[in-house]
Amino acid sequence: MAKEKIQYQCQECGFISPKWLGRCTDCGVWNSFKEEVSIKGFSARGVDSDKKTHAYRIDEINFDNTDRIITGISEFDRVMGGGITQGSLTLIGGEPGIGKSTLLMEVCGKISKLMPNEKILYVSGEESEAQVANRAKRLGVRENNFFIYHQNVWEKIKDELNRLKPKFLVIDSIQTTVSAEIPSAGGTVSQVREVTFELMNYSKSHGLTSFAIGHVTKDGNISGPKLLEHMVDTVVYFEGDQQHFYRLLRAIKNRFGNTNEVGIFEMQEDGLKEVTNPSGYFLDQSFQGSFGRAITCLLEGTRPLLVEIQALVTENKFGTGRRTTQGVDHNRVAMLVAVIEKYFELPFSFCDIYVNVVGGMKLEGRDADLAIIAALISSYQKKPLSEKAIFLGEVGLTGEVRPVNMIDTRVKEITKLGYEQLIISERALEKIKNSKTKVRIRGIRKVQEILNVCY
Ligand code: TYD
Ligand code: MG
Repeated sequence: MAKEKIQYQCQECGFISPKWLGRCTDCGVWNSFKEEVSIKGFSARGVDSDKKTHAYRIDEINFDNTDRIITGISEFDRVMGGGITQGSLTLIGGEPGIGKSTLLMEVCGKISKLMPNEKILYVSGEESEAQVANRAKRLGVRENNFFIYHQNVWEKIKDELNRLKPKFLVIDSIQTTVSAEIPSAGGTVSQVREVTFELMNYSKSHGLTSFAIGHVTKDGNISGPKLLEHMVDTVVYFEGDQQHFYRLLRAIKNRFGNTNEVGIFEMQEDGLKEVTNPSGYFLDQSFQGSFGRAITCLLEGTRPLLVEIQALVTENKFGTGRRTTQGVDHNRVAMLVAVIEKYFELPFSFCDIYVNVVGGMKLEGRDADLAIIAALISSYQKKPLSEKAIFLGEVGLTGEVRPVNMIDTRVKEITKLGYEQLIISERALEKIKNSKTKVRIRGIRKVQEILNVCY
């Protein structure tokens, strides 16, 4: 019998300590230690896996196992790098209720239609067969090669995999699945790591394509150490905001494709619907002509997306103003407000300032700086910005307007959607001088010049 030893492990980074600690000395997170039982001789997992014994010349290696399953859900396939690579293991993370189970159920539905002679298995440790079947039915998944198994013990799941020999597997979720060989509680680092390791080995050696659903922690990472992300082939996150209906699927790591692509979905009564032409999706067209709104063109992956920024600036007679932002970094807005105060000489510090991104979109990067400034000034001056104008550029502390990348892709989209004016950095003009567009492009060098072109 192997010797057991109690030790404590940080659930964030995997650091091991013989004593319980309030704060991890390695990653600095508080309250992250949990009791784990280590078994002597157990740490060398992975050493004797199915790795080869010698090296191969490149032309001796065949690529057949990289065939892809194209589900037909194009937003999903694109994020996966052009379909799911057969025999790979993907980890999908996301907050509770965001739609991970729904998405994978729909994927199962597509695959069971696509491969009528293969079996598809959905293992749920959280919901009973009836609950899963009920959802499947609502989503129109009723092929008879689709199997549901309510189980959370890995060894039993493995027995069933050996019996059923499915081609595609979903484990919902990796945190509820436990291995009987590990004495620690479910969801702890050693359990999650062991199950993932076993699943990875099984997938590789049996050509099984699998998905594991992962819960996320408060700060939005998949529970368990980063180690988990290193073990699997692909890591995708399903995100979005629960008050809104859109969902973004984003690849964080992909051994079989790039990680730039983003899939956009909308949650509806009868499941997730793809948003295949998202560029106009985040605009609120009903309030054209109001002041305090500006439109910018962001890139999500390689796709341009038009986004509306709304600002409200009101005088505060009682001292320093409040700043409230939604979907945009608070500090970035504070900096842009300081730029306005300095270079436009407007008394913004005494104003209450609200900035909001329409549709629950979250801005990352700085491409929307110019649009935020335009919206703020428009609200302050109570003058609507010119209709059909797009503002695009980063603004620096000295008031200079900087160009954004992939400008020609954005110009194409703006032209296609019928916008008439584009306000960008003068330095970007060179890059698009050959693009055939009817859009009137105005280059500005200093942020103050925006006043000459925006109304
Ligand atoms: P779910 O896939 O269970 O989320 P997760 O697995 O990420 O926790 O879906 C959660 C929400 O989606 C749930 O609150 C109900 C909603 N929903 C719909 O609006 N329409 C549908 O067709 C389905 C299946 C779910
Ligand atoms: Mg779920």
